[in-house]
Amino acid sequence: MSKPRLYSGMQPSADSLQIGNYIGALMQWRDLQEAYDAFFSVVDLHALTQPNDPAELREKTRRTAAQYIAAGIEPARSTLYVQSHVRAHAELAWILSTITGFGEAGRMTQFKDKSQRYGSDATSVGLFTYPVLMAADILLYQTDIVPVGDDQKQHVELTRDLAERFNSRYGQTFRVPMPVIQQETARIYDLQVPTAKMSKSAESDAGVLWLLDDPAKSAKKVMRAVTDSEGSVRYDRENKPGVSNLLVIYAALTGRQIPSIEDEYAGRGYGDFKKGLAEVVVNEFGPVRERALELLADPAELDRVLAANAARADEVADATLASVYDKVGL
Ligand code: ADP
Ligand code: NA
Repeated sequence: MSKPRLYSGMQPSADSLQIGNYIGALMQWRDLQEAYDAFFSVVDLHALTQPNDPAELREKTRRTAAQYIAAGIEPARSTLYVQSHVRAHAELAWILSTITGFGEAGRMTQFKDKSQRYGSDATSVGLFTYPVLMAADILLYQTDIVPVGDDQKQHVELTRDLAERFNSRYGQTFRVPMPVIQQETARIYDLQVPTAKMSKSAESDAGVLWLLDDPAKSAKKVMRAVTDSEGSVRYDRENKPGVSNLLVIYAALTGRQIPSIEDEYAGRGYGDFKKGLAEVVVNEFGPVRERALELLADPAELDRVLAANAARADEVADATLASVYDKVGL
């Protein structure tokens, strides 16, 4: 019996991924590779909804792919590819856009937030149809599950609606995917503003730990993380968001339970705790960074791996697209 399909992707929107991407996405992807026939995409078409320098975008895309591999995504086992290398994504997105309601797309909260921030002249039609392209990403591979952060849940719901609508209008074509929402304890917050999600696109990077940063720099950021005046290493999201966030990072990277870490640091100060966490961070990301830099030192080889994986993605995607063209009369 073949394994169930999994699809997930991430935008190449910075030179480096941040550790929220690592803990919230890459670590889970790595663990799911065995049980699933996994497709992992660097979604560069999506990245075009933000202003980009062309040469920089190409470089960020390659760097993102290298970080997937460095974090343990195995290109010989999972299908790890760049979205724009597989033409079917844009083609299916067009067809799905013709069965998506204007009002339905307008109800996407991420679009409402972003378009409000950008203003109407700087808001592209591409930003509006972004969730339709995401639906195409997922449906092309006859995906069973989609691991996502809760901010993407609404987009996966739309994807399910579009799959069901197409199937009922044209006959069974798409598998209807299930979202797998990341656990709250896998959500990482900014070290300086521990109530805001750590993000590649944070306004200041003082509270962001980058996967490709010099480990000594990351250690310094940990030592400077915002805490509170109570002085006890205790998980309490509401009253101690800074310390709680550090505990979550510690637990995620060591595989330990939070109470056991609290016990270890009971009666000791934040300085000790931060020193311990800085060590954990350096041990985890030092090797990941080294591996990523190694991969980036040989762009021809990386491009070869990505091309081979795109060819594998193409095969699956083309079969779905051919069936869609047939069904709608193209
Ligand atoms: P970013 O804000 O860094 O650009 P995205 O929103 O594009 O990240 O998310 C890419 C993936 O990384 C998603 O699977 C998302 O759930 C995960 N992710 C991003 N930031 C975090 C975070 N702070 N904590 C946990 N997971 C995160
Ligand atoms: Na692969």
